[in-house]
Amino acid sequence: MLILPPPGGDGHRTPSDHKRGVMHDVQGGETVSPKGRQSALFDKRYQIADKLGQGPYSVLFKALHVEMNRQVVLKFLTAAAHDRNPRERFRREARFLSLLSHPNTMAIYDFRWENVARPFIVTEYIEGQTLTALIEQGPLSPGRVVRLTRQLLAGLEEVHARGLVHRDLKPDNIMITKDPNGDDLIKILDFGIASFIDGPPPGQPWQTITTPGQIVGTPRYMAPEQLVGEPASTASDLFSIGLIFFEMLTGRRAFAGESPDAIMAQQFDPAPVLNHDERDIHPMLIEIARLATCKDPEGRMTDCEEFLMYLQGVDPDQLDG
Ligand SMILES: Nc1ncnc2c1ncn2[C@@H]1O[C@H](COP(=O)(O)OP(=O)(O)O)[C@@H](O)[C@H]1O
Ligand SMILES: [Mg+2]
Repeated sequence: MLILPPPGGDGHRTPSDHKRGVMHDVQGGETVSPKGRQSALFDKRYQIADKLGQGPYSVLFKALHVEMNRQVVLKFLTAAAHDRNPRERFRREARFLSLLSHPNTMAIYDFRWENVARPFIVTEYIEGQTLTALIEQGPLSPGRVVRLTRQLLAGLEEVHARGLVHRDLKPDNIMITKDPNGDDLIKILDFGIASFIDGPPPGQPWQTITTPGQIVGTPRYMAPEQLVGEPASTASDLFSIGLIFFEMLTGRRAFAGESPDAIMAQQFDPAPVLNHDERDIHPMLIEIARLATCKDPEGRMTDCEEFLMYLQGVDPDQLDG
């Protein structure tokens, strides 16, 4: 590794830089060229490597914390300084992650907000694949689905216990890695649009995000009540888990079609989301998926614990046996 003195960039990022994963001046004039032969350390400690993803307001890089010799992920806010809501959401994302310490939730290591050109969150690097990539390879065995869903619910139980709702649970925001025994380990990520169930705790430095009636989330995985602009509840997260559960079992999305209109039409259809016609799937699992995806939030399991109780009723080893 070669460390050069900061060349003093102009803070510009060109489209071709972007493709190569080059960040200029992400902080105070340092230029980082992850794949070039020469590279400088970002924030004096991070060797930036591959680009992992890009959303409307953020960009993610794998990086090495050189002093700790540990792989991490740097998520940079790319929204403009005057874009108040994305900036406030980003700060919330860091603070929400800081409230969580469950093994099934991605761990945060650091957050830099003040006196940096671009705020960034440092998290654990998850060696593995998204649930989207896993499902693309075909349906998962029912036993594996049950084990993975138990982990998802265990992680989500802590989220809800902290007074938060995730609001954007979907296969893209879930990663699968391996624990030291080589078994599946689920990680919930992306708390970018999470919120407090009952509003921010009083007397604390949480700024309100002014989005009256605004619908945030991913229509394909959103509960019907979220789609009409009602506040998301823990039951809305369970609806999303129900859809993910079904998708893992069948290898297909519960709502067909690509356009938001087509998906929303199915969300508002009073018929149940799922039918009993999926062959070869244990009826108990279909029943669990149906219950979680009940259109009326009152008709769903009351919380993660109850969902887990249903799953205790099935033996994953027997399902796959
Ligand atoms: N800690 C991580 N380790 C490995 N890959 C990650 C990690 N965090 C995110 N990713 C990858 O980057 C993608 C985008 O990250 P996410 O936090 O969901 O950002 P966005 O807000 O843009 O959706 C994820 O879908 C995943 O593929
Ligand atoms: Mg995401």
